[in-house]
Amino acid sequence: MSEYDMEDIAQALVATSKGILAADESTGTIKKRFDSVNAESTESSRRDYREMLMASSGFADYISGIILYDETLRQKSADGRPLAEVISSQGVIPGIKVDTGAKPLAFAEGELVTEGLDGLRERLAEYHQLGARFAKWRGVISIGNGGPSSYCIDANAHALARYAALCQEANIVPIVEPEVLMDGTHTIDECYAVTETTLKSVFDQLYEHRVVLEQMLLKPNMVISGKDCPDQAGIDEVAAKTIYCFEQTVPAAVPGIVFLSGGQSEQQATEHMNAINQMGSHPWEISYSFGRALQASALTAWGGKVDNVPAAQAAFNHRAKLTSAARDGAYDAKMETVA
Ligand code: 13P
Repeated sequence: MSEYDMEDIAQALVATSKGILAADESTGTIKKRFDSVNAESTESSRRDYREMLMASSGFADYISGIILYDETLRQKSADGRPLAEVISSQGVIPGIKVDTGAKPLAFAEGELVTEGLDGLRERLAEYHQLGARFAKWRGVISIGNGGPSSYCIDANAHALARYAALCQEANIVPIVEPEVLMDGTHTIDECYAVTETTLKSVFDQLYEHRVVLEQMLLKPNMVISGKDCPDQAGIDEVAAKTIYCFEQTVPAAVPGIVFLSGGQSEQQATEHMNAINQMGSHPWEISYSFGRALQASALTAWGGKVDNVPAAQAAFNHRAKLTSAARDGAYDAKMETVA
């Protein structure tokens, strides 16, 4: 018998008023984020930045779980405690990104497939020992140049399902993340079509791989216009098309859908999630697993300087509070300006 139930973990991650903080940027990605605010990226600056978020007063009020990168799960706080313990002692659940990135897919110009299955069983056993109770794997699908191909969609869906099955075998809740990218000039209807096809393929593969739907979470993109599409869909259209797409494709047994923000601004991601949650009750909980849309203001306020820590923590708390309100459908844009 295990000491906890994966269904309980999945449900705790989507508890009312709470969602997930994605702080699992790879070393390359976090360097780009730090570069953008002129902060140096070193092992200790990465630790200081992430520890600062975990030490924010509102962290445990609005955050149910935090996704870490391998390096962070192994790090200790400035006072010598493993960061996984700093997190779990606040009642927040530590998670881990386990894919090793998206690589070019053979014979499919411009398309990617996510790698990381080799040795995953052994890595999951170690991550479990280090305290991780859920995991994440991101597949990337892009629209444009005639794509995506069904070859790319199915290859990514297959890898996501193999990963999810290995996680459940290791008593770790898998977050299954097929991301249809916002980059491009495509319309919201093109995003809808690709997202629907992708989710159908993902759930077919999850079924084939015997994944228990009650013990996983889905982390999808919203159905949204491409970033460079001249005709940008409004908030209500995004909410309606996103929900309709999930109704067609996501089984009711899945306990929760946790969105990625995917390059939306903090306010845009919050407004969309609020509108989606205001659309009535759904078979699944709908919450967040945001990276940039929870961290952007805090990162800018921090800028790598210790003196800025209080301002950065205030910025993080404010954003997390608004995102939490949106998760409950109780956000109002007026809240943006009230500290
Ligand atoms: P964004 O919210 O910045 O898209 O990050 C979420 C994430 O975890 C992507 O894999």
